[in-house]
Parts: sequence; structure tokens; C-alpha cells
Amino acid sequence: MKVINIGICGLGTVGYGSFSVLRNNCLEISRRVGAEVRVTHVGTRRLRPGQDIGSVKKSSDVFAVVNDPDVHIVLELMGGIDVAKPLVLQAIANGKHVVTANKALIAQHGNEIFAAAAKKNVLVAYEASVAGGIPIIKAIREGMAGNSIQWLAGIINGTGNFILTEMREKGRAFADVLKEAQALGYAEADPTFDVEGIDAAHKLTILASIAFGIPLQFPKTYTEGITKITQEDIRYADELGYRIKHLGISRKTADGIELRVHPTLIDADNMLANVNGVMNAVMVNGDAVGSTLYYGAGAGAAPTASAVVADIIDVARMISHPESSVPALAFQDDSLSDVAILPMSEVNSAYYLRITAMDRVGVLADITEILGDCKINIEAIIQKEPRGADALNQRVPVIILTREIREAVMDEAIARIEKLDGAAEKVMRIRVFRLDQ
Ligand code: HSE
Repeated sequence: MKVINIGICGLGTVGYGSFSVLRNNCLEISRRVGAEVRVTHVGTRRLRPGQDIGSVKKSSDVFAVVNDPDVHIVLELMGGIDVAKPLVLQAIANGKHVVTANKALIAQHGNEIFAAAAKKNVLVAYEASVAGGIPIIKAIREGMAGNSIQWLAGIINGTGNFILTEMREKGRAFADVLKEAQALGYAEADPTFDVEGIDAAHKLTILASIAFGIPLQFPKTYTEGITKITQEDIRYADELGYRIKHLGISRKTADGIELRVHPTLIDADNMLANVNGVMNAVMVNGDAVGSTLYYGAGAGAAPTASAVVADIIDVARMISHPESSVPALAFQDDSLSDVAILPMSEVNSAYYLRITAMDRVGVLADITEILGDCKINIEAIIQKEPRGADALNQRVPVIILTREIREAVMDEAIARIEKLDGAAEKVMRIRVFRLDQ
């Protein structure tokens, strides 16, 4: 039987998870590939307590793995860019196939990496870079290949979803839940990537590229995190029949493609609204199939390893059958489209506004006059009797749900509301996304 040798660079949560799945499922994997797949070289500075790699060769320099002539497929599971990028380019230059879980690397440098791989006729597979164990890359790139994709929307950061879920269900404080997510191994090395939306923006950049046949354009992704969401917002959204979820949304419009990550109100009875904890889900709408939903664990050692090993199997099969190749970004390299990414100011959305107003005559009238002036249609409004600190400070929260309007118009209305004498604080704005559109 033919043997395919794997070199692993990085033996952290995902690296050792992948090593374990390869070892535990080796017989079944060999039967699927038609060749024996075995780890022959691991690059890591040190083994963590409990890690056992048996007699597999270990180097403290990850480049020793990439330069090992016996390795056929390199797994880049270190994360980050500084070492990962030159390492992947070196692996490609050495004629090796690469499997990576590194969303930052693919979102920011994927165009260059895929071009280098195409020149050397090797594959770079990245299923594990988006939504952990959910095979979303394969679903969009292959399973939905017959469709013109209209839009996709997903919960693609497990840490953020875990935090919002715990805040809503248990009233827990943001910082406390984040600490737990870090301890459970869900969060990025720098957790601001999770809570400020950067991790989700990396993943959305990748999904949009393969859905719409466009180059990877991370800098054009509008990115907003969950750090400003309060318990109040979660309660008011509930009262209006919505849930607040941190979504990545990409939608094709006549003017260009929307590419945006932000907290979003979605109908409480929508399936995405009920995706809780560390789970991820992505809804993809194609013109032929309609809406489809992919759900599963978005982070953690074994789920992410599931995607890494699936990629290894694909690449290993391709080594045996090189003629059946799927383009890295789903569309042929010379037919990527230059359709524009819409600036956020041109995106149309409905909005939830929480305005903290002074409790005095005429303030609500001033606010509604500004909205009327800007031709913003109000769909629902809540104003409660002020209590506690609000009552003492003579402040009153006004919650408004609007119809769809262009973001630039809403920016102007919010700026005018914030200048009112009766406005006590910055306006909290959360966009609403209707998943049936
Ligand atoms: N920090 C990421 C998350 C890990 O929480 O979703 C998986 O990419």
C-alpha cells in the first residue's frame, strides 16, 4: 500500500487534536484514501503535559518539518501570520501540499498563497479555518456549486456566541464568560480577535470569496464586535421578539457585495436565533436550492481536527488522482469577478436604536421629527417609566425599531439625535437582519 507522510507544524489544541484523530481513526482513514496516512514529523518547541507522540520524529524548528524530503503534506496549525506565512510559502516552494486551520493567514494572504500553490501545482486546503467542524467550505464550493449564491449569514465565532448566550440565559457578566471561553480553549490567543469581530471577519472574507467568486478582500470587511452589547439591549431585543446574535453577513446586491460583521437582531423564532453556546451555524441561500443551514461545533480540539483530517484525506486522495482538482477559491483563477464590495454607508438595513434621553417634555417629539426628516420609518417603539439610576438621573431609555434605510442616512439621523439637548448618551445601534430576504 502507498504511504502518505504528514508533517505537523504546531502541537497546540488543534495540532494535537489532529494528531489524535489521525492516530485513532488511522485504519478507517487509510480505507477512505486507499493509501496509508501516517504522521512522520512534528514541529513543536515542547510537548505539553499529557501529549504523547510515540516514536514520531520531533523538531523544535518547524521549518525542519517543511524541509523534510519525506513529508508529503504539511499541516500548518500554529496560527498567527509572522511564522505561518513564510512557513506555508516555503512548504509550497518545496512542492508540498498544505492543510491549514489559519483563517487570518488565508483571509489576509490567501490570494498570494493560492497563486504560489497554483504555480507549483500543489494544494492548500483550509476547511478548518471557518466554523470549526462544520464542512462549510466543501458545502459552498462543491455542494452548492450549481447555484448562484444570493446571500449567506452565519454565527462564525464560537467564543462570541458563547458570551452572548451566557449573558442572555444566565445574566452573566461579559468579562467572566470570556474568561471561561479562554479556559475551555475556544478563544483566540488574543481574545480581542473574538470579541471585536476580527476572527469572524477573517472567516466571512473566506466564505464570501468562495460563494461569489471574488478575491479575498479582508480590509473591505466592515467589522464590529460585541463589546458594547449590554444586558439591557438583550432584554429589549427579547421584548421586541428578537435575539441579538453576532453575525457575518455577505449578500449580493445590484450595486455590489455586502461584507459585514456586527451584532444583529434576528427574529427569535429563526433557526439561527436558537444556535447557542459555542455552536456555529451558517445559512446559505442559493437561487436554485433556497436557504440551507449548516450547524455544528465552531471551536475546540476534536471538531476542528475533524475538518483538518477531512482536508488531509482530500489532499491524499488527490495525490493518487491528481486530475480531479477543485479550484482553491471555488471559481477558476482566471474567472474571479471584480464586482465591488459595498462600503458600509451604502448597505440597507433595519435598525434597533436605544436612545438614552433626558426625561423632559418634547424630547421624544424631537427624536421622531429627526427620523421623519430623514424619511426613516419607525416600526416599533418602547418607552418605559424610568426606574433606579435612570429615574435618579432623570433619564429615560427609548427603544426604536426602524424599517430598512441606507446606513449613511441612519448615520446622519444618529448624529443629529446625539446633538439634541435631550440626548444623554451615545445612541446604541444594532442592525436587524431578516433571514428570509
Ligand atoms: N476563537 C475561535 C472561535 C476559534 O471562538 O470561534 C475557532 O475558529
